[in-house]
Amino acid sequence: MSFTTQKNFEPAPRRWALRGDLLDFTAAPAWGEVASAAVRFDRDHWLLIEDGRIVGRQAHEPDASWVRKDHAGQLVLPGFIDTHVHCPQLEVIGSYGTELLDWLERYTFPSECAFADPARSRAGAEVFLDALLASGTTAAVVFATVHKVSAEALFQGAMARGMRLITGKVLMDRHAPDGLRDDVTRAERDCVDLIQRFHCQGRLSYAVTVRFAPTSTPEQLAMAGALCRADASLYMQTHVAENRAEVEWVARLFPEARSYLDVYERVGLVHERAVLAHGIWLDAQDKVLIAERGAQVAHCPSSNLFLGSGLFDWSAAPFNVSLASDVGGGTSLSLPRNMGDAYKVQALRGQRLTAWTALHAATRGAAEALQLGHEIGGLSAGQAADLCVWDWAQGPVAAARDAAARELHERVFAWMTLADERNLAACYVAGRQRV
Ligand code: GUN
Ligand code: ZN
Repeated sequence: MSFTTQKNFEPAPRRWALRGDLLDFTAAPAWGEVASAAVRFDRDHWLLIEDGRIVGRQAHEPDASWVRKDHAGQLVLPGFIDTHVHCPQLEVIGSYGTELLDWLERYTFPSECAFADPARSRAGAEVFLDALLASGTTAAVVFATVHKVSAEALFQGAMARGMRLITGKVLMDRHAPDGLRDDVTRAERDCVDLIQRFHCQGRLSYAVTVRFAPTSTPEQLAMAGALCRADASLYMQTHVAENRAEVEWVARLFPEARSYLDVYERVGLVHERAVLAHGIWLDAQDKVLIAERGAQVAHCPSSNLFLGSGLFDWSAAPFNVSLASDVGGGTSLSLPRNMGDAYKVQALRGQRLTAWTALHAATRGAAEALQLGHEIGGLSAGQAADLCVWDWAQGPVAAARDAAARELHERVFAWMTLADERNLAACYVAGRQRV
């Protein structure tokens, strides 16, 4: 049975052009800079697309050899990149009353058990991927479950939609309930099989996926590190230093490690394709190490607020920071909503997050940190035509706010604060309409 909500849009024309207000980045905007030279905004321009790739942009209307889609007066952005999100957690989103460790035990682990069933894994992947697209997210770094079939289903679903997806089977061989643990031998076999079948196939990549230090034995962590060392093109995703009780637990479990991050560093898991979720309670030495290794932190503001985990120190981060929903700890797949939450997290720290830094972290910044800047995250010739068309405003309140904006940052900031998936007018993946 399929629960897919995919609509059957026309196959994409080979050559087509999209008109709208084009916004992307040519560099990383400086922290706090409202007037930034890194922003490229071409009001009422045409983006030219051929065979699923962007081939140019221009002010004048292209000739009749191009199929034209007129979105004049709407905002065109690169598809968003969610660098940390859990497919099997849609059903626990908005669960009441706990911090991280109790939340995992009470809600998340029981829900993930159901993904042992291949039909549940497939249905879950379809709903999840369609929900990402409906939120304007065209690429993602995703946690499956411990079950091999859950990663398979995500890879197959992403392949069918042409999406850029990075995922892997979750490694966890302790401190988890029956039905949600693997063992080192079986886990390694499953990883190798999934890597052979899906890694570097089309737009798919494999991520060695350590859930977090407490749910893997030292032997399993060593195996995960060995996989990464054997193939530098593999990604790695995990959680680190999210919650204070979690950090204390890791210190008790790994007394030999200097810090939580050091548990990963000792086995070779901190590298330039490592995506470390949260990183709220890292110390100064950890931060320098992440920067030296070229790894990134996926900042998950909605989750951090909802689970009461803490306020991420973005302004002083020496490493790459990308933006992530962390659903179901996070309460929305919409990255504009997460940008709004990120602003509030910084406000509570006495800092100001510009729309530019937030948007960059969800597009070009994430793409570059994933070593995928040539493919995604921008509206430049040569990149995949993964792009979304957004209404500047939905409803009378947002419309009044939009009309009152005097300059571009004010307008985009109000957009990111008020917008969500209801603002999405169209979503294209590799030039093909999916929403
Ligand atoms: N740490 C370990 N597992 C998880 C998870 O599923 N969600 C979050 N937010 N943190 C985790
Ligand atoms: Zn997470």
